[in-house]
Amino acid sequence: MTSRSGEETAGGRPGIFEGPGWSPLLRELAERLRRERRQLEREVHWGVLAQAEREIAQELAQEAARRLREQVRSLRARGAPAEAALEGEHQRFSVLFRAQHIGLFASTLALIVTGLPLRYAETEWAQSFFHWIGGVPVQAAVHRLAAGLLIAVSAFHVYYIGVTKEGQRELRALLPRPKDVLDLFHNLAYFLGWARRGPKFDRFSYIEKFDYWAVYWGVVIMVGSGLVLWMPEVSMRFLPKYLLDIAQAIHSDEALLAASAIIIWHFYNVHFSPEYFPLNWTWFTGRLPIERLRKHHPLEYERLRRAGRGNGRQ
Ligand code: HEM
Repeated sequence: MTSRSGEETAGGRPGIFEGPGWSPLLRELAERLRRERRQLEREVHWGVLAQAEREIAQELAQEAARRLREQVRSLRARGAPAEAALEGEHQRFSVLFRAQHIGLFASTLALIVTGLPLRYAETEWAQSFFHWIGGVPVQAAVHRLAAGLLIAVSAFHVYYIGVTKEGQRELRALLPRPKDVLDLFHNLAYFLGWARRGPKFDRFSYIEKFDYWAVYWGVVIMVGSGLVLWMPEVSMRFLPKYLLDIAQAIHSDEALLAASAIIIWHFYNVHFSPEYFPLNWTWFTGRLPIERLRKHHPLEYERLRRAGRGNGRQ
């Protein structure tokens, strides 16, 4: 059964505010109650709606944050496009740089091979070498030829680092800095297990810088003493005999030191360590796999990545 106001009444009985005898005041009160009730229903309705909207908005925000996190993760893994992902191989050394290195090692190896038998001239192996090469005059000529090449390469290198932009840049990267001393101690701590990670190197590590500057010292000593031995008559005109003897002793001992340093220290570092054995081709191609750049020169790698210049020169 339905009341006047259109509401269902329990068991078909008249509504509570119906029937004769109700004063207009009570009717009005009843009307207000009905309005309030409708109002309350509307409010509850809107409240539920607002709650549902809040939940949807929350879910959307969570989903958006999740997608954003995923994107950031995948961009990090690939390297952000703005910073250029580095792949393949990095051109570490220019043609000019490699040509000088080839000239340096070709002349130095020839000088070692033709010089050391003279130091041990009375040994059997030295005699066999003289025999093989065609006699002492040939050995002396090859030694002088190689010395000429070493002097030419060294003179060109002075021009290269002094005048060319590329050489100046390489020289700046090779200058010793306080960080190199810190890196040395950091590396020692790492080798001793006192540090969890090794130091992060830039374009040249302190080991490579040491190699570079040791050559300056070596070339000055060997060329200086070698020239004294090369032209004894001229040298004797300006120097006492004992200085010639000292030059010969220095030349001979420094030759042994240089040969040992190159074969034991330098060759191990660049070719014979398990990572590179039997040969590291960077001296020839000038290229370095990006993975090695990242591992051995992380600071340079980061700089190149930020600049978006993975395969170009620095
Ligand atoms: C890494 C470079 C060099 C090495 C390893 C080297 C090695 C040697 C050795 C071991 C000797 C024998 C010394 C002895 O009698 O005990 C020697 C002799 C000699 N070296 Fe060098 N040398 C080098 C560079 C030079 C240079 C740059 C010059 C010239 C500017 C030079 C000129 C001579 C001369 C004139 C002799 C005397 C023996 C001869 O007539 O062949 N060397 N060298």
